[in-house]
Amino acid sequence: MARLERYIVGLDIGTTKVCAVIAEAHDDGDLQILGAGLAPSTGQKKGVVVDIESTVAAVKTAVEEAELMAGVSVDRAWISATGTHIRGINSRGAITLEGRSREISEEDVRRVIDAASDLDLPADREAVHLLPQQFLVDGQENIVDPVGMSAMRLEVNLHLVVASVSALQNLVTCANKGGIEVQAVVLESLASNEAALSHDERELGVALLDIGGGTSDLVCYQGGTVNHTAVFPIGGENFTNDLSVVLKTPLPDAERIKLRYGAVLSELVPSDQTIEVAGIGGRAPTLVPRRQLCEILRPRAVEMLDLVRDELRRAGFADELHAGIVLTGGGALLEGLAEAAEQRFGLPVRVGVPSGVTGLADVVSGPVYSTAVGLALYGHRNSGEQSRFELKDPTFARRVRGRFARWFGDLF
Ligand SMILES: Nc1ncnc2c1ncn2[C@@H]1O[C@H](COP(=O)(O)OP(=O)(O)OP(=O)(O)O)[C@@H](O)[C@H]1O
Ligand SMILES: [Mg+2]
Repeated sequence: MARLERYIVGLDIGTTKVCAVIAEAHDDGDLQILGAGLAPSTGQKKGVVVDIESTVAAVKTAVEEAELMAGVSVDRAWISATGTHIRGINSRGAITLEGRSREISEEDVRRVIDAASDLDLPADREAVHLLPQQFLVDGQENIVDPVGMSAMRLEVNLHLVVASVSALQNLVTCANKGGIEVQAVVLESLASNEAALSHDERELGVALLDIGGGTSDLVCYQGGTVNHTAVFPIGGENFTNDLSVVLKTPLPDAERIKLRYGAVLSELVPSDQTIEVAGIGGRAPTLVPRRQLCEILRPRAVEMLDLVRDELRRAGFADELHAGIVLTGGGALLEGLAEAAEQRFGLPVRVGVPSGVTGLADVVSGPVYSTAVGLALYGHRNSGEQSRFELKDPTFARRVRGRFARWFGDLF
C-alpha cells in the first residue's frame, strides 16, 4: 500500500541552474512549499550533463539552501530530464481475449500496454513514461478504464517517452553524489505541466512550451491526456549568444543586457532609448539603440516559434489547441515573446507560473520554478511509488481510481 510521504522534494537540474523545492504534503491534499534553493550551474549543455563535479556542487548548494529555508533535511527527490535524446512516440497495441467475449482483467490491461510498448528500441534507449491515451474495447473508442467490461478485443493508444539511459544515469549520478536518492526521473515538460497548466486547459487542448536555457520542451494535451512531446535544442542561451556575437560583448554582459533590456518586438521599446554595451578585451563601451536589441533577438524568436509551429503541424495538433499555448521556463520572461507567439500562432498565449501550492508560494512564483514545483506536485500525486528512473508514469492510473493506481504502482 502506498505510504503518503510527508516531505516531497522537486530537484530541477537545468542547463543554467539547479533548483530544489521542499514541500510538505498535508492530509487534506494541500502541498505546502517550505523552502527553495537555486544555484547557477554550468555543468550541462542542452540538458545533458557534461561536467559531473560542477553539477554535483550546484545540487548540493541548491538543496542546502532549500533545507535551510525549510528547516528540514532531505535525502530523496523527484528529478527532471530534458535533452534532444528524448523522443515522444505514439503507439497502439492490441490483444484478443482468447476467442470469446469475457470480462477484461487488470492482467489484460497489463498485456495490452506491454504490446503497445514493445518497440524495437536501440540498446541505449528506454521508455521513461508510458502514458495511455485511451483504450478501445471491441473497437469502441475513448474508454478510460476497461477493467470489468466484456469484450473480445482490447486495444490501447499509448504515448511513450523514450530517452537515452546513459544520459538519465548521469543525471541520477549527479543527484546521488549530491546526497540525494532519486525517486523518479520525470520529463521536464510533464513536470512543468503540473505547476503551470490547469485541468481545463488540458481537457480542452493546450501546448506547453518550457523555454529553458539550453532546450525548449513541448508537451501537448487533449482530452486530459498527452498527445505529443518534443524537445528542441534552442533556448535562452541562444538569444544571449546572438547578442554577444552581434554586439561584440562578453557573454555575461550580453546576458545582463538581455535580462534588463531585451525585447522581441520593437513597438514595445521607446524609440529614443540607448544602452551602454561593454567592449570585448578592454575595448571602450559603445552606445546602442535599445531597438537594435529587438532586431537581434527577433529572428531567433521567430526561428524558435516556427520550429514549434512546424512540429505541431507535423504532429497534426496545430488545430486542436483550443486553450492556446502556455509559455513557461525562464526564457518565457523575454519581453514581447508571448505577444510574438500570439502573432505567429494566431492563438491565445500566456506565461504560465507555478500554481496549486500553498505556503511560501511567492518564493517560487516565477516561471523558472515551474519544473521544480511541478516535480513536487507530480511527486505528491504519485507519492509512495518506487524509486529508480525506470519508473513509468502512473498519471493515467490516478485518473482511473485507486485500485488501478496500486496496480500501476506494482507494475512499474
Ligand atoms: N527576464 C528575463 N528575460 C529574458 N530571459 C530570461 C529572463 N529571466 C531568465 N531568462 C532566461 O531564461 C533562461 C533560464 O531559464 P530556466 O531557468 O528555465 O532554464 P534551465 O531550466 O536552467 O534550462 P533547461 O530547461 O534548458 O535545462 C536563461 O537563458 C535566462 O537568460
Ligand atoms: Mg528547465
